[in-house]
Amino acid sequence: MAKFRINLGVTGGIAAYKAVEVMRLLQKRGCDVSVAMTRHATEFVQPLTFRALTDKHVIVDDYDPQNPDPIAHINFSQNIDLLLIIPATANIIGKFANGIADDFLSSTYLATTAPVLIAPAMNTTMWDSAATQRNVRQLKKDGVHFVEPVAGELACKTVGTGKLEDVENIVAQVLWLLSEPPTVAGGLTGQAELPDVRINMAKVQPPATAGGSDLNGERFLITVGGTREAIDPVRFISNHSSGKMGFAIAEAAAARGADVTVVAGVTTIDPPSNVNVIRAVSASDMHAAVVKELSSTTVFVGAAAVADYAPANAAEGKIKKDGRDFMILELKKTPDILAEVSKRRSKGMLVVGFAAETNDVIGYARSKMKKKRLDMVVANDITKKGAGFNTDTNIATIITRSGSEIELPLMSKREMADRILDEIVKLRKVAEARA
Ligand code: CTP
Repeated sequence: MAKFRINLGVTGGIAAYKAVEVMRLLQKRGCDVSVAMTRHATEFVQPLTFRALTDKHVIVDDYDPQNPDPIAHINFSQNIDLLLIIPATANIIGKFANGIADDFLSSTYLATTAPVLIAPAMNTTMWDSAATQRNVRQLKKDGVHFVEPVAGELACKTVGTGKLEDVENIVAQVLWLLSEPPTVAGGLTGQAELPDVRINMAKVQPPATAGGSDLNGERFLITVGGTREAIDPVRFISNHSSGKMGFAIAEAAAARGADVTVVAGVTTIDPPSNVNVIRAVSASDMHAAVVKELSSTTVFVGAAAVADYAPANAAEGKIKKDGRDFMILELKKTPDILAEVSKRRSKGMLVVGFAAETNDVIGYARSKMKKKRLDMVVANDITKKGAGFNTDTNIATIITRSGSEIELPLMSKREMADRILDEIVKLRKVAEARA
């Protein structure tokens, strides 16, 4: 069976011939590729080229009597892993962005639920034009992924941005987008070596309605809240975490059919009633509880603000001032729960982390994702009003292992929980399609 089913849409630009190379490379890597072309694309490359190489009818026109499928734009768009557009003209980008479905390819775009990856190629002025850039922004907001054009000499002999990205890079980005998550300890070589890809991920689906069942069968283990690291029986080191985001995810996941266990540290609110709760105070308690629960987990979410360091030797009795003006506290690193879960994960388990930062939010989040080999990171800039600790709202960017960045504007933590779960459901679907 083919590794991935990819539908390739070719539009009318001089770079159309490069779509043939991309198709061949994808086939060599075990993908099953079907092709559709716009009428203008056929001015640059004959459908026969693709037909000969795929052994399949190449659809240009739904109504063509040669077309073996009477509802091809529906069938062509279903049960695929990716809709890939190479090259994408300003025209097709404009149609996609505005919901215009006046030919086969634009109708297919509207009808598909698969991720969409677009590799534009056009004259620099057309690419830079306000309309094209507006349409690209709209599509990115809609969750469409782009392999951005690069700078170089263009067919019109001008030099500037608008050249189709190198075919090998396009293929690498397709495979990255569809790639397997790393599994079990020992063989964790993949993720850290993959390029830092600037493409975006699956088309954003509307948030699932609470009370759904799209997480039936999943067993979530979620760390929540802050930890307290004892200095002595009276004092401790801790942080501002309230547990609101973690509990919101727990509640939402349970409402969508998952079996949910939370390992809750210190929180300022009560846990939701629909989940199992294990209490932990210190990072080391939380670590022990997680390790115990891990074997049956299918999705791990590290939402806790775990102290990174704890006093090396907590005093047994209350520490007295004894006239001292200074006191040195020796701290030692706590176990990194998230990194360890990722290392120990069983096949198919998804691992999600959080990154609360004050600067270079995306950069740090990405490096956390690589270092801890995560499937997804929810990154937030805690300096933003309405984001971060102890608020009922949040602002975040979801980064997935494929390199996508999904921006979530100011919204309630409960609503954000559902958006995070939507992305987890999509990751699960991609993993299942490949299994
Ligand atoms: N985490 C964990 N165990 C730890 C520390 C962090 O499970 N001992 C998890 C958090 O739950 C969160 C993510 O790791 O999902 C945060 O990553 P981390 O690198 O620890 O971030 P910071 O604590 O902010 O560390 P740094 O100061 O290095 O950015």
